[in-house]
Amino acid sequence: MSTRILTLLTCGLLAAVGATQCFAADDGSAQALHKKHCVACHGTEVYTRETRTVESFPALKTQVRRCEMALELDWTDEKISAVSQYLNNRFYHFKP
Ligand code: HEC
Repeated sequence: MSTRILTLLTCGLLAAVGATQCFAADDGSAQALHKKHCVACHGTEVYTRETRTVESFPALKTQVRRCEMALELDWTDEKISAVSQYLNNRFYHFKP
C-alpha cells in the first residue's frame, strides 16, 4: 500500500474523531516546521549531496523520525509524514 493511501486512510480516521490537523499538514506547514526545527545542524544540502544516505521514501521517513527524536520534538506521525513528503517533493523525488 502506498504511503499516500496510508496517509489518506489515517486522515480519514482522524477526521472521523474530529481531528482537523491532518488537513492542515500541507506542504506549507511542513515547510514551516522544517524551517523552524531542521536547519540548525545541516542545511538542505544534505538532501541533495552526492553522498546522501537516504535511498528510499521509507528510509527518508526513518531518518526524519531519527532527527526529530534526537531533538525531542515529540512530533505526531502526521508531522513526520508531512515533513517527509515535503522533503520528498522538494529534494528526494522518490516514487511512492
Ligand atoms: C541536532 C542536529 C540535527 C538537527 C537539528 C536535525 N538533524 Fe537531520 N541530520 C543530523 C545529522 C548529524 C545527520 C547525518 C549527516 C551526515 O550523514 O553527514 C542528519 C541527516 C539528515 C537526513 C539524511 C540526509 C541524507 O544523507 O540523505 C535527513 C533527511 C534529515 N537529517 C532530516 C532532518 C529533519 C527533518 C530535521 C528536523 C526534524 C533534522 N534533520 C534536524 C543532525 C540533525
